[in-house]
Amino acid sequence: MQVRVLADAPASVRAGALALPIFAGGDLSSVAKTIDDALGGAVAEVLSSGEISGKPFELALVHAKGQPYSRVLLVGLGEKEKFEPYLLARYAGAAVRYLGKRKVTNIAFVLPENVKGNESAAAGFVVEGALTGTIDTSIYQNDPDRTIKVEQISLLAEGFDRAALERGAARGQIIGEAVNAARRMALTPANDMTPTHLAARARELAQEANLEIDVLDEDRMRSLGMGSLLSVAQGSDQPATLTVLTYKGDPSSKEVLALVGKGITFDSGGISIKPAEKMHEMKYDMSGAAAVIAAMSAIGKLRPKINVIGIAPATENLPGPGATKPGDIFRAMNGKTIEVINTDAEGRLILADGLCYAAKLGATKIVDAATLTGACVIALGHAASAAMGNNEAFVQEFLTAAKPTGERYWEMPLYEDYSTAVKSEIADLSNSAGRPAGTLTAGAFLKAFVDNTPWIHLDVAGTAYLDNESAWQAKGPTGTPVRAFVALAEALAESDGKVHPNGAKAAVKAGAGA
Ligand code: BES
Ligand code: MN
Ligand code: ZN
Repeated sequence: MQVRVLADAPASVRAGALALPIFAGGDLSSVAKTIDDALGGAVAEVLSSGEISGKPFELALVHAKGQPYSRVLLVGLGEKEKFEPYLLARYAGAAVRYLGKRKVTNIAFVLPENVKGNESAAAGFVVEGALTGTIDTSIYQNDPDRTIKVEQISLLAEGFDRAALERGAARGQIIGEAVNAARRMALTPANDMTPTHLAARARELAQEANLEIDVLDEDRMRSLGMGSLLSVAQGSDQPATLTVLTYKGDPSSKEVLALVGKGITFDSGGISIKPAEKMHEMKYDMSGAAAVIAAMSAIGKLRPKINVIGIAPATENLPGPGATKPGDIFRAMNGKTIEVINTDAEGRLILADGLCYAAKLGATKIVDAATLTGACVIALGHAASAAMGNNEAFVQEFLTAAKPTGERYWEMPLYEDYSTAVKSEIADLSNSAGRPAGTLTAGAFLKAFVDNTPWIHLDVAGTAYLDNESAWQAKGPTGTPVRAFVALAEALAESDGKVHPNGAKAAVKAGAGA
């Protein structure tokens, strides 16, 4: 998709459609008035008819006879008082999906007047949303029935800071493409998206973004003592991989942010096998790893002044002759022994070694992301990801950085009780503490592998993919937490990679996301 920033006045732009934002209950903006005049009052008529009232992402199409633009798409943006820039991603996504399905290939976007002074962010969100709107789920169909045809979008700069729009658009393109890369990886079924293929995809993205890459095979894992990761892989014929992407944006600094993502390319549950219903969705169980790889590609292109490594341990979790049996005990890279009570609690097992390896590579801060627990979906549904960690200032810095992206995170506690719950009779740790606080006992398990390094765990089980489409995005993978990862790297780059001692004070209250 081609992205342009045009100086043209909205009323004179050539396009298949002009997208026009409409706030609920408000008066027509001056641009909307101009368009309305040109169309002989057609815009005001649609509004007064009640066909659209400006509720979030309501749509109404007006044909524009005799104008340089063929149509006007009115898009509801909700109440002006509740406006946040990230809503522009949904505005653009909704327009692209509605028009693109109707074979419109060229859309010009009018920006709301209230983004003046904040043009760069606004343009970023429009471009990001337009790009993420284009993905659809029919990628394996011979005649895809849900293709979105949009080839070109334009941002209309009249009345705005054009240079800021250009900057924002370039950034939005990088973010949108990264989000889509993560979504495509997740959408790809497990017979194609093997651990080896995931590493190969990382290699392609690393090349584009100028990142160093190292892919560990099982022999290297064994010599590093990654018995926990290997225990999950032993039921599958597919060899495990552990991909490391390195970005050095601040070579003079010793600070290193590590992003670690769960890469279970298929989770059958292993010997503790899952019920058949919904098991196919477990191809998405590598969404954390996909987000790490995609976020690294964006970071490599955006070049913030910070060092970041991305770590993606990947394997299938299958029953097989060599598979882990409940009760088996393994030793992780840091020497801790783990009793595997439930082979379906495999994500924490591969992350354990991923987290140890992050420390070995010099990480001074770690964030991991995983579709880790069904309990997280019970707790927060699909509305937010769970965030927890061992350093409150770092958690607050993350929440503050993530909030403007539109991805939602809600902090949950890691009380000592949960660490007690994951102790084993016979080994140092048990991989399952049963149903109570399942998300938090999983977090407490991971905590045993990070020592004192500031660390955050994100459980994205309810947010990495969705069962329903919305006006602005297809159903299926969402790309969460690519945006938050990139935002955190940029925020830390601004603060020289150090957690502010007063970070907790400066930050908004935990999870106060929209
Ligand atoms: N990948 C699943 C978690 C999951 C479930 C993600 C549903 C998305 C939707 C994870 O590996 C798992 O099976 N977790 C178990 C842990 C339990 C055995 C302690 C779970 O949540 O049931
Ligand atoms: Mn599982
Ligand atoms: Zn899993």
